[in-house]
Amino acid sequence: NLPMLIHISETSSTNTYMHELLEREKVPEGSCVWADFQTAGRGQIGNVWESEAGKNLTFSIVIYPNFLPANRQFLISELSAYSVKELLDKYTSDITVKWPNDVYWKDRKICGMLIENDLSGQNLYASVSGIGINLNQKEFFGGAPNPVSLWQILGHEVDRETCMQEFLDIFYANYILILEGRENELHDKYMQSLYRKEGFYWYEDANGRFEAALQGIEPTGHLLLALKDGTVRRYEFKEVKYIL
Ligand code: BTN
Repeated sequence: NLPMLIHISETSSTNTYMHELLEREKVPEGSCVWADFQTAGRGQIGNVWESEAGKNLTFSIVIYPNFLPANRQFLISELSAYSVKELLDKYTSDITVKWPNDVYWKDRKICGMLIENDLSGQNLYASVSGIGINLNQKEFFGGAPNPVSLWQILGHEVDRETCMQEFLDIFYANYILILEGRENELHDKYMQSLYRKEGFYWYEDANGRFEAALQGIEPTGHLLLALKDGTVRRYEFKEVKYIL
């Protein structure tokens, strides 16, 4: 079954739309719901996702990676984030992937993603990658500290339809790497593209601020940070903050 591309003008959240669709019907793998406007776009840790109507890309893609062990689900983050990087590389330079699943231009956030498991439908395990990419928005008003759009970088608009199609082609090609058991290639590319890959920067955990260098990311998705004295700290999602 070929994937569907469902383009709608408005919905609360494309992730929610996808979850509801999965409950109702069989949705071919790779299908994507794309909305011009979300009335209640959802971000990480219960945040809202600000996106002006008709300006950006806000969409959700479903895949069924039932073959992946639970401790390898971070691959879906790598797949989604690295695919956005590959898309944006077509338009500009200085794009990196920021652990666990943002995409940055220099020190500013150009894309966020919310990956949710869905166990409700007729499929054993569906993974919904909800992705918001700032394309043509000229100004940001919400609480996000450091947003940037492609328009702010380039000084001109880009065609959303073209970007959507380009993204899907890239995403499918990268997903095939996983399906073929070549996920190491994807992981290597993700690691090569990391924000703050080299050098010491400031981070903050429950005990306060500290300077560290990125030492690696485990297959489980844990972040390894090396202090100047050589101590290595290991973090789960949300246990550590990057000081910008
Ligand atoms: C974040 O950085 O906090 C995550 C933002 C995720 C936003 C996207 S937009 C499409 C999809 N639908 C949602 O409601 N959220 C995600």
